[in-house]
Amino acid sequence: MHKVLVAYISRTGMTEKMAGFIAEGIRLAGHEATLKKISEIGNENDLNGYDGYIFGCPTYHRDMTSGMKNFLFLAQKANLTGKMGGAFCSYTHSGESGAMIFDTMQHVYKMDMTDLGALNLKEHAIDSQEGIKACQDYGKEVAGKFKG
Ligand SMILES: Cc1cc2nc3c(=O)[nH]c(=O)nc-3n(C[C@H](O)[C@H](O)[C@H](O)COP(=O)(O)O)c2cc1C
Repeated sequence: MHKVLVAYISRTGMTEKMAGFIAEGIRLAGHEATLKKISEIGNENDLNGYDGYIFGCPTYHRDMTSGMKNFLFLAQKANLTGKMGGAFCSYTHSGESGAMIFDTMQHVYKMDMTDLGALNLKEHAIDSQEGIKACQDYGKEVAGKFKG
């Protein structure tokens, strides 16, 4: 069994719902998922002990939130090179933040990112059967990269 951290920021709860469904998918794949708000992660040592990382942030003003930007500087100090990774975002019309986070995880941290790219869901779809399944499948996909 491998351990995956799903860390997110959410202002009105939509990205938080996605995080919960992604964690379900990881568990359905037989692995351990830990859900944390990024505000609960005080320093880079809090990122130790996981085999995979999935980070999520809603899009506001066509950008990540400042909290997520600060978190990504913190995460840079943890050695995530080669670890499994994914990113996600809730949005209404443009949805840039998932791809921005994914890009940092791939090119700066040099993580082993899912071939799916970031999971971006319009907020009205998150509670639908398709939305829940998309999140669960994303968690399964990242966890499915673990061998054994
Ligand atoms: C002031 C404001 C700005 C927003 N800007 C964007 C945006 O640029 N692009 C977009 O796709 N959604 C935008 N949204 C919509 C949010 O991304 C969407 O409501 C999201 O589901 C919120 O997620 P959360 O509940 O996790 O905070 C904006 C919402 C607000 C209130």
